[in-house]
Amino acid sequence: MTNNRQAAPIGVFDSGVGGISVLGTLTKVMPNEDFIYFGDSANAPYGEKSGKEVCECAHEVTKKLLDMDAKAIVIACNTATSAGAEFLRKTYPDIPIVGMEPAVKPAALSAEHPTVLVMATPLTIRETKLRSLMDRYRDCADFIDVPCHGLVELVERGITEGGEMDALLADLLAPHIRGRHIDAAVLGCTHYIHAKDAIRKALGDKVAIFDGALGTARETLHRLEALDLVNPSAKPGSVMILNSSDKDELLELSRKLLINAKNRKE
Ligand code: DGL
Repeated sequence: MTNNRQAAPIGVFDSGVGGISVLGTLTKVMPNEDFIYFGDSANAPYGEKSGKEVCECAHEVTKKLLDMDAKAIVIACNTATSAGAEFLRKTYPDIPIVGMEPAVKPAALSAEHPTVLVMATPLTIRETKLRSLMDRYRDCADFIDVPCHGLVELVERGITEGGEMDALLADLLAPHIRGRHIDAAVLGCTHYIHAKDAIRKALGDKVAIFDGALGTARETLHRLEALDLVNPSAKPGSVMILNSSDKDELLELSRKLLINAKNRKE
């Protein structure tokens, strides 16, 4: 029998349109769930703020999603996960709260002692979560962390490929990859997943690219199963997209990116 909580939606948020890349995967892994996505574009980029500011933004958005009866929260943002997941879990111990885990482990184990680029926002790179994750695998891989100033802003403008994207990626990556053999790259920010093709072009086909979207979607499903919160409905679920910015084009961009994300091969 369906209980009220099983039929409730899953709340998903990010600093903007980045987490739509995770939302696409969530809808593929759990096609019968309803989702409410909140993009906090009015406060983007989170990655250039302090940890305290990001934690406050994440709390505000979480309150909105819980007011809309969300049964679980997915923090589809590596930066907000690093700065706010612990606080949110302590504040809402009865709500399953799933964050992003940068795909450091699969990248580190993808070859014999690979050299791995870890692309993330400046705040994610400063926070301890990513650092301790890399520390765990330092015996089996060399990591080069790349704070990607400006990449989130470009994706928020709807630019995921083309001349401007190629030029920014060349500027960001060149100092780290010049004269080095790179085996793998971790996309440690959900905005970057939308620009995966451009990043692949910048790094070359031989570099394996990893992101945390599928891991987060699977972890969300496990948490719902463990708490008997899976929606037993046989109907396709719905997706509602909200944004804190009053720019209508962000909702349009979100819908377009969601279609791309659903078509993306995991
Ligand atoms: N998409 C977010 C992440 O995964 C952050 C972007 C931002 O800096 O706002 O880290």
